[in-house]
Amino acid sequence: MDWQALTIRPLRVGEGIPFELLLLADPSRALIEAYLPNANLYLADWEEQIIGAYLLYPLDEQKAEIKNIAVAEAWQGKGLGQILLKHAEEVARANGFDTLLIGTANSSIGQLYLYQKLGFEMLEIRKGFFLEHYEEELWENGLRVRDMVVLGKGLARVTINGSADDTD
Ligand code: COA
Repeated sequence: MDWQALTIRPLRVGEGIPFELLLLADPSRALIEAYLPNANLYLADWEEQIIGAYLLYPLDEQKAEIKNIAVAEAWQGKGLGQILLKHAEEVARANGFDTLLIGTANSSIGQLYLYQKLGFEMLEIRKGFFLEHYEEELWENGLRVRDMVVLGKGLARVTINGSADDTD
């Protein structure tokens, strides 16, 4: 798929939140509404339609987390998820963060594959996270959604001789 005409941009002032998209990644509207005010929402436009979104949430001065990433169903599996993840990395790096985190469920096999393919490594398992924070019983890929796997990626710049450069 040729994504040349894709635009990824921050939410505009006064623009509505595309909840139907964000709910694909997080079934709790209450949780989305709780993290939204402290996050930066980026939207992917394609021919006047919003077909993807991600939310970058600062955790502290060093770490930012992708709290939500979603591609509209008809557009999944065409590479947009990877484009959004790379965009989030660039935005986080440009804003001075040195680590990017992303959490997903024990049952999210495709997402665990995708994030590791892009260089994220497993850091932590939050046991019972989804049992605690979601009222409804969630299932995915035939598995009970229970634990959150937190993955992270270092954002240090790499110089042409290959050494990490965090001097600027
Ligand atoms: N199951 C199996 N494989 C998956 C997958 C899934 N659910 N999601 C992504 N992949 C694989 C693709 O097969 C592809 O592999 P390849 O490059 O070897 O062919 C790779 O991951 C990248 O896929 P891509 O096309 O860039 O991903 P996408 O545009 O579908 O976006 C998501 C990925 C997860 C953002 C998208 O599928 C989505 O919005 N899903 C619903 C919301 C969601 O789960 N968000 C994440 C919550 S943690």
